[in-house]
Amino acid sequence: MTIPNKTRLLLITTALLASIAASVVNAEDTEQSLLARARSLFKELPDSIHVDDYPHSAARVALGKSLFFETRVSSDGRMSCAACHNPSYHGADSLALSVGVHGQKLPRNAPTVFNTPLLIAQHYGGNRASVEEQAYKALISPLAYGNANFAQAEGKLRALGYAKMFEAAFPNEQDAITAENWATAIGSFERTLMTPAPFDAYLKGNTKALSTEAKLGLEKFISTGCAGCHNGTTVGGQSFQKFGLTEDYWLATGSKEMPLLKGRDKGRYHDTSKDEDLYVFKVPQLRNVAMTPPYFHDGSVAKLDDAVRVMARLQLGKKLSDEDVAHIVAFLESLSGAVPAQFASVPALPVAGFQNQ
Ligand code: HEC
Ligand code: HEC
Repeated sequence: MTIPNKTRLLLITTALLASIAASVVNAEDTEQSLLARARSLFKELPDSIHVDDYPHSAARVALGKSLFFETRVSSDGRMSCAACHNPSYHGADSLALSVGVHGQKLPRNAPTVFNTPLLIAQHYGGNRASVEEQAYKALISPLAYGNANFAQAEGKLRALGYAKMFEAAFPNEQDAITAENWATAIGSFERTLMTPAPFDAYLKGNTKALSTEAKLGLEKFISTGCAGCHNGTTVGGQSFQKFGLTEDYWLATGSKEMPLLKGRDKGRYHDTSKDEDLYVFKVPQLRNVAMTPPYFHDGSVAKLDDAVRVMARLQLGKKLSDEDVAHIVAFLESLSGAVPAQFASVPALPVAGFQNQ
């Protein structure tokens, strides 16, 4: 039987249209199933997190912001939280190793200060339970602020003229200038520093918020196994894991021995002295990771694509193609949010000079 040309054309066109429709439906299915997988592993950021233990107020957040930028409480008059967690560098300092008071090198890389109240604990070793404990202990750290004791730091705050701001932030207290209140106020400020990103818009259901490359990267990130450790609201920061499951990490990163740590950085072991914590580090959050090179606890790897390759090899025993790496990097870029406006603007601090003879 011969089919007339016109009918043949019609049949072909119909078949073609049906297959296009099917692939559109398939693409839509794939799109929705990727979103569903993403939603089962990650969560959107909240606007801010204020917990019952630390009730906040506008006065507290304002005081916290001033203290975050205040350098004159440190022993050389130059260190503040912002010196190492700087608005120009997305809440980090862009250095492999931070430089502390009197020019001393710290043994670790400064992570961003954004979204950190949501992490399981603070620092790579998790030796600070909350952002408040972190701020409290920094005040007498010989590397960060260099104060001999809390009384010395409180005396400086009094001399600088902070009494009114502390009284407004802690209205029912006799002597409001205390190290605990310093920490509570800074914590209140940090609890406002959330950085929603295109990935949050995606999780809310706007599948156009991510580029095709970023979506391919998201799929790779999940199917390769990265999300086994980097998951939750902060895409990491929720567990402690050994760095270097397939080989010693320093062979891949070129990490050096640190005099202050008496050798290689042993991670959580420095805080717990337990063998099972050897080379175990807190899994870092990956929010804003594209904005905060260099990478790893000692900033030993300069570029994000190399950090991704190191992770695939050392944590999963896999070698990724250059294309896969590029897609994962595109996904990681979708985790960058804007620097919060209240962090980007510099506060006017109480007027007083610092005697640095
Ligand atoms: C001299 C530089 C320096 C100063 C000053 C400094 N930090 Fe840090 N910060 C670091 C480094 C380095 C780390 C990583 C330490 C570690 O993991 O052992 C860190 C870690 C943190 C973390 C934990 C982040 C995470 O992902 O675990 C927070 C929160 C933080 N700092 C807030 C502050 C606040 C608030 C202040 C001021 C009170 C401050 N820092 C002062 C360098 C600094
Ligand atoms: C078994 C757990 C685990 C898996 C799986 C894993 N990671 Fe990690 N990741 C970590 C730990 C732990 C660190 C911190 C290492 C250090 O600095 O000491 C880290 C650090 C990183 C960093 C550096 C972050 C920074 O701020 O310096 C990036 C980027 C990263 N991982 C991406 C990935 C990617 C991409 C994958 C998948 C290919 C992946 N990770 C798989 C545990 C894991």
